[in-house]
Amino acid sequence: MNLCYLDGRYLPLDEARVSPMDRGFLFGDGAYEVVPVYSRRPFRLAEHLGRLARTLAAMRLPNPHSDEEWADRVTTLVAGNPWEDQSIYLQVTRGADAVRNHAFPKDVRPTVFMLSEPLLTPAPELLASGVAAVSAADFRWLRCDLKSVSLLANCLLRQYGFDQGCAETVLFRDGFLTEGSASNIFVVRDGRLLAPPKSHLMLAGITYDVVLELAAAHGLPLEVREILDAEVRSADELWMTSSTKEVLAITRLDGRPVGSGAPGPLGRQMYAWYQEFKNTVMRSG
Ligand code: PDD
Repeated sequence: MNLCYLDGRYLPLDEARVSPMDRGFLFGDGAYEVVPVYSRRPFRLAEHLGRLARTLAAMRLPNPHSDEEWADRVTTLVAGNPWEDQSIYLQVTRGADAVRNHAFPKDVRPTVFMLSEPLLTPAPELLASGVAAVSAADFRWLRCDLKSVSLLANCLLRQYGFDQGCAETVLFRDGFLTEGSASNIFVVRDGRLLAPPKSHLMLAGITYDVVLELAAAHGLPLEVREILDAEVRSADELWMTSSTKEVLAITRLDGRPVGSGAPGPLGRQMYAWYQEFKNTVMRSG
C-alpha cells in the first residue's frame, strides 16, 4: 500500500480526493518539491524546505507549515511506506474556491499533498553508459527559478526528448545553456567544470548546490558563468543533476557523441564524491 498525506490526514493514495475547484487543478497554482530519502533519512531537507518557502513567498501564498511541521510530516510519511529509499513529493496549492476566478480567493485554505514513491536512482548499467539527450529552445516563462506545478512547458520539452528515445532535453535560451527539462546541466571543458549561474531562467537545484560545494571542497577548477551553445556542443563531458538522477553523464547530444562518447573521468569522480558525501551525511546526526 502506498500511504500519502492530504490536508492533515495520512491515507492510502487510492482514497485521496481533492476538489475539481482546486486552483492547482484549474490554474496550476501551486508549488512543489521532490526530496530524496536514503535509508529512510531525507537528504538536504532543510534546503528543500527553504526553496519551497521561497517559491511560496514569490507566489504570495503563506507557507501552511513551519519547517518543524513539514519535517514531522515527512518523517511520518516515510515511516508509513515500505521502501528504504523514497522520493517524497510535497505540493501546496492555493486551495479550492467556490468560483473560478484568476485573482486570488480570500480565506481559502491551501491544499497540502505529500506522496511517497520508491526512489529509483540510475542503475549501474546507465551510469556506465551515460544517457542520450536532445537540445531544444527553452520556451518557458521568465520565472524558471520557482518550483511551480505549472509544468506544461517542461512536460512538452521532456516529451520531445522522450519521443526520440532520449533521457533529457537540454535547453538553450538566446544562445546560452539554461538547464534540462527536469534537471540542471553541467559542462566539462579542458579539465574545468562550468555551471550556468543561478537566475530567473533556471531552477537552482539542491543537487546543483551539492555539486558546486563538492567541486570547491575538492579543488576542482570551477567557473560559474553563462555557457554558450557552442561550448556545450564541443564539451568533453556533460552531466545532468537532480534529486532523483543524482549525477548522470549525458554521452550523446542530438545524435553526436559528447567527448569520447562514454562517461568522462570528472563525472565519474563527481559521482563518487556525491555518493561518499551522501553516505557521510546519512551516517551522521
Ligand atoms: N526536478 N531543473 C528543473 C527544471 C527540475 O525540474 C529539477 C528537478 C532540477 C533539479 O533540482 P534538484 O536538484 O533540486 O532536484 C532542475 C524534480 C526532480 C522533478 O520535477 O521531479
